[in-house]
Parts: sequence; C-alpha cells; structure tokens
Amino acid sequence: MLLKVHQFFKQQLFKEVNQSILANQKNSIIPVAKLTNVSKNYGDGLLSVKALDNLNLEVNQGDYLAVMGASGSGKSTAMNILGCLDRPSSGSYQLNGQAIEDLDDDSLAEIRNKELGFVFQQFHLMPDATALENVILPMIYAGFPSNQRKILAENALEQVGLAERMNNRPNQLSGGQQQRVAIARAIINKPSLLLADEPTGALDSSTTEDVLNLFETLHKQGITIVLVTHEDEVANRAKRIAKFNDGKVISIVANK
Ligand SMILES: Nc1ncnc2c1ncn2[C@@H]1O[C@H](COP(=O)(O)OP(=O)(O)O)[C@@H](O)[C@H]1O
Ligand SMILES: [Mg+2]
Repeated sequence: MLLKVHQFFKQQLFKEVNQSILANQKNSIIPVAKLTNVSKNYGDGLLSVKALDNLNLEVNQGDYLAVMGASGSGKSTAMNILGCLDRPSSGSYQLNGQAIEDLDDDSLAEIRNKELGFVFQQFHLMPDATALENVILPMIYAGFPSNQRKILAENALEQVGLAERMNNRPNQLSGGQQQRVAIARAIINKPSLLLADEPTGALDSSTTEDVLNLFETLHKQGITIVLVTHEDEVANRAKRIAKFNDGKVISIVANK
C-alpha cells in the first residue's frame, strides 16, 4: 500500500516536472512579438507611401532591442503595429503566439491594456491628473480592485524614484520625472512587451542616463523591451540593435 502511494506521488511529481518543462519550452519557443512580411501603406494611388515593406522581426522573451534608422525609415510605424495601435496592410503580427489580424478592435484594446506598455518621446500624461492618478488609470481599465490600485501605483512610483512627487501634476514635474511617471504607468499592468519610441528624445543627457538606468533595471527584472532611438549611447545599452531602412530591417547585431 505504502509503495503504491509512493509510486502515485512519484508519478504525479514526474507529470508536474514534465508539464513545467513543456511550459518552459513553449515559452522559449514562442516569441513575444513576431512580424512576418509586414507591409504598411498610407494613402492610395499615386500618393501612397510604403512605410513598411515586407518587414520581418522577432522579439523574444527577455530581449532588449534598440531600433535605429534614418527619419522616415518606418520605425514609428513598426512600433505602432507592435503596440496594436495600428494594423498591417498585409502580413502577419503574432503577439505571444496570437495572430493580431484575427482580433477585433475591442480585443486589441484589451491586449494594449494588459500585454503592452508604451513610452513616448512627449510622455503623453494626462495633464489634469496627478502622477499617482496617471499610474492608476491603466489598472482601472484592467479591472483591478480599487483597494489594490493605490498601493500598487505607489509601489511603481517608488520603483522609478518618485516617492516624493506622487501628488504632483505633470506641469509640476521636470521632463525626466514626467518620463518616469510614464514608465511607471507603462509597466503597472506587467506587460509582456514594453515599447518606447524615442523615450529620451526630449531629455537632457543626465536625465537620459536616469531613464536608461531605469530601463536596464526593468530589463534585469525580466521585462522585454523594444526601444527606438537615433542616439548611439542609448542604443548601446540594449542587447541587440536593429537597423531600419526603407521600411525593412537591414541588419540586427548583438551588443557587447
Ligand atoms: N499617418 C501617416 N500618413 C501618411 N504617411 C505616414 C503616416 N505615418 C507615417 N507616414 C510615412 O511613412 C514613412 C515612415 O514613417 P515613420 O514610421 O514615422 O518613420 P520613422 O519613425 O522611422 O521616422 C514616412 O515616409 C512617413 O512620412
Ligand atoms: Mg518616428
């Protein structure tokens, strides 16, 4: 009898270990984001602009990818597609293995809220809301219980070094502080992908350094990051650098 019980538990354990190995394999095989032959055209006929031209790009769990390239090479268009703010004209975008083209606008809004975090050059905070209220907002959309929101938002603002400024509105904060609020807001729902389009473009060099240190900390905590920049110092902090030209990736190199 005892032997049987022992065997039963051994089998259970074996099953669980196997399942967890399978789950890990699944996670490591499925990229967080995968763009396959993605094209994006703006406008029709003679005025049509091809912003992306059969773009292929894969971002894996734990990646920190910097995207560089001349102005007009399609970086922001690619970020908008990765962020489900826009849809490809053709081609496929899979986010955590789910084909985005199969989803309606409501499902995309939910995915933007739960799976994606955004940081923009101009911060895009709500001007009439405090830092704390700005960070709480995505949790309201995600349906977090109200008694948890405040404490989670306070923790996130502490993490980005703004414990003292939680009740200030954006116009009472410096550019670097506003960007840190925006980063706290972007990570509050634990996104699988953090997207930042020229996040240091409006910052001076010492504040840029603060924001880059923060991205590095987040990356070490396991957050997957894609960041657009035209500054080598910024790109060099990433794990890989992708260069865009005419709506395509022309090279991807590993850093360091
Ligand atoms: N909403 C739009 N309407 C028309 N053309 C656009 C729009 N957005 C971008 N473009 C064009 O698409 C190309 C790529 O733009 P963008 O992705 O913003 O490049 P980048 O971010 O690399 O500077 C450019 O030629 C740009 O003018
Ligand atoms: Mg751009």
